[in-house]
Amino acid sequence: MKVTIFGSGYVGLVTGTCFADAGNDVVCVDIDAERVAQLQRGEVPIYEPGLDEMLSFNQEEGRLRFTTNAAEGVHHGLFQFIAVGTPSDEDGSADLQHVLAVARTIGQHMDDYRVVVDKSTVPVGTADRVRAAVGEELAARGEQLEYDVVSNPEFLKEGAAIDDFVKPDRIIIGSDNPRTGELMKALYAPFNRSHDRLIAMDVRSAELTKYASNAMLATKISFMNELSNLAERLGADIEQVRVGMGSDPRIGYHFIYPGCGYGGSCFPKDVKALTHTAHEYGYQPELLEAVESVNARQKQVLVHRLHAHFGEDLGGRTFGLWGLAFKPNTDDMREAPSRVVMEALWEAGARVQAYDPEAMDEAERIYGNRQDLELCDNLYDAVEDADALIVCTEWQVFRSPDFERIRDALRQPVVFDGRNVYPPSMMEALGFTYYGMGRGESIRRPL
Ligand code: UDX
Repeated sequence: MKVTIFGSGYVGLVTGTCFADAGNDVVCVDIDAERVAQLQRGEVPIYEPGLDEMLSFNQEEGRLRFTTNAAEGVHHGLFQFIAVGTPSDEDGSADLQHVLAVARTIGQHMDDYRVVVDKSTVPVGTADRVRAAVGEELAARGEQLEYDVVSNPEFLKEGAAIDDFVKPDRIIIGSDNPRTGELMKALYAPFNRSHDRLIAMDVRSAELTKYASNAMLATKISFMNELSNLAERLGADIEQVRVGMGSDPRIGYHFIYPGCGYGGSCFPKDVKALTHTAHEYGYQPELLEAVESVNARQKQVLVHRLHAHFGEDLGGRTFGLWGLAFKPNTDDMREAPSRVVMEALWEAGARVQAYDPEAMDEAERIYGNRQDLELCDNLYDAVEDADALIVCTEWQVFRSPDFERIRDALRQPVVFDGRNVYPPSMMEALGFTYYGMGRGESIRRPL
């Protein structure tokens, strides 16, 4: 089948590449000429395990092409996917200018029936605006071509996006016309084999499903972070509580890990956007507001703890920080807890020596001109002569380091573990002063 994807960002690239890999003929359109040139050379501008190989392979097979020529893209695909960015506006609402610009482009160039698919995460009601934008452009040309608008939200986790795409736990198709349901079903058939994972619904419900899912996951995290702060005060260990809670299948073990807050491109933005939509419709979403404010507060917990240990003035101090990305297996630093911690440390006069397995280039791009940040080549350089080690992301490579080497390299053997990577009793036995998240008095009273 012929597929066009507008937007060669994270979602667009994974979607286009996976459709091509299933044998479809895919054209990806982006307005960024430099990015398109890079992709034409087979260079992938984002870090996602497995994407490079899959993209180059399908490019060589001639099933995946990249262009800046929007008209060519509109003429090509029966399916026109909109996978452009929807950044947060100042007020937290999703900025739809790029989505609507693509819709108008489709209306300007289409010459036959088209299925316009909203892949970007967009507020409820956007499909209607996309439909109107395409229609206005057609009317301006005096054309009366048929088209449908479908909502097909993505549920891709960074670092596992290809797997999530080819082995989805659900494929949500929101459409108000049965014929598009059938076409979408055919397109997704290669990814819908073992049992039917396609869930058809009306457009607005599909749009809300995406936000509802991310808001629910963010709620689980903020709930656990709230409980971890409480556990600390009560002398309980949240990690033991977590295991006890998760054994109830109604609660489950997933997404109940306490930490130094959630980040990334989705949860912060989507919770804010859903909150904004609720306000627009005259409803005050108290729970959603709390999810967001608990997360903002959680990102400060490490900062408060550092001050409690070292005092308010951190002038002359140096901290080793492991984990800049918002989570493991990505180089993405959007809304990462590490940024809140580093910025607070700089504000208090400290220097930071940081290391991350993938996000060093990204850190250089964002903070490259800072004198008080040193980007280190490895784990151990980051702790050399530092007053403490701070762990912000639970990369696998951080789990079993050479603790003695770390203890010897640090000026003081202090570890602030924002992701509960290490058992407190082990750290204490190794001679560290150890601070976990929500680990109560377990340091003093190990099991
Ligand atoms: C998320 C959703 O999982 C995905 O379905 C959606 O399409 C996009 O948003 P992603 O942002 O890539 O994916 O990351 P995810 O793995 O969900 O983690 C988000 C954040 O939550 C990270 O900062 C992570 O560290 C944090 N987190 C996750 C916790 O603090 N505790 C947990 O138990 C799980």
